[in-house]
Amino acid sequence: MKTLDLISRITIYEDRSELPMEWLCLWEKAHEAAQRAHAPYSGFKVGAAILLNNGEIVTGNNQENAAYPSGLCAERTAAYYASSRYPEVPFNKLAITAINPKEKLTKPVSACGSCRQALLEYELKFKQRIEVLFSGEEGEVYVLKSISDTLPLFFSNEYLP
Ligand code: THU
Repeated sequence: MKTLDLISRITIYEDRSELPMEWLCLWEKAHEAAQRAHAPYSGFKVGAAILLNNGEIVTGNNQENAAYPSGLCAERTAAYYASSRYPEVPFNKLAITAINPKEKLTKPVSACGSCRQALLEYELKFKQRIEVLFSGEEGEVYVLKSISDTLPLFFSNEYLP
């Protein structure tokens, strides 16, 4: 028997004002995207902004549906659009933020497991780490060097026949 530690490093900024300019710009794009979310059922508005290697920024937000499972998260909306529009361009950075109209979000909002798995696909496809930023509307901001750091023991095409 042996044990294995799964360790991820998170850089924690006390608040947005500490962020490097490139991250702050990306956060602003994600925040604007969150404002445009279609979230009439949960009221929880999420925005994602992806900086591509070619300098383009692609945004997405959550799209809810009266048939609840038919909706899609902000991160996958952005990632699938980016990949469909620029299939050969790696993702460089991704910022995620959210707006809760009932109370201000003061903690970083993480991406759900399905979105982390979906994003990982592009990290593996391009063999390039995607830096990721998680934030609320105010307070601490988390930055990680790679999507794989957010999803230990991820599934990949290595397992497929
Ligand atoms: N949501 C996202 O957009 N991204 C996530 O990573 C987690 C959840 C959305 C889905 C749904 O529209 C709302 O937030 C509440 O779960």
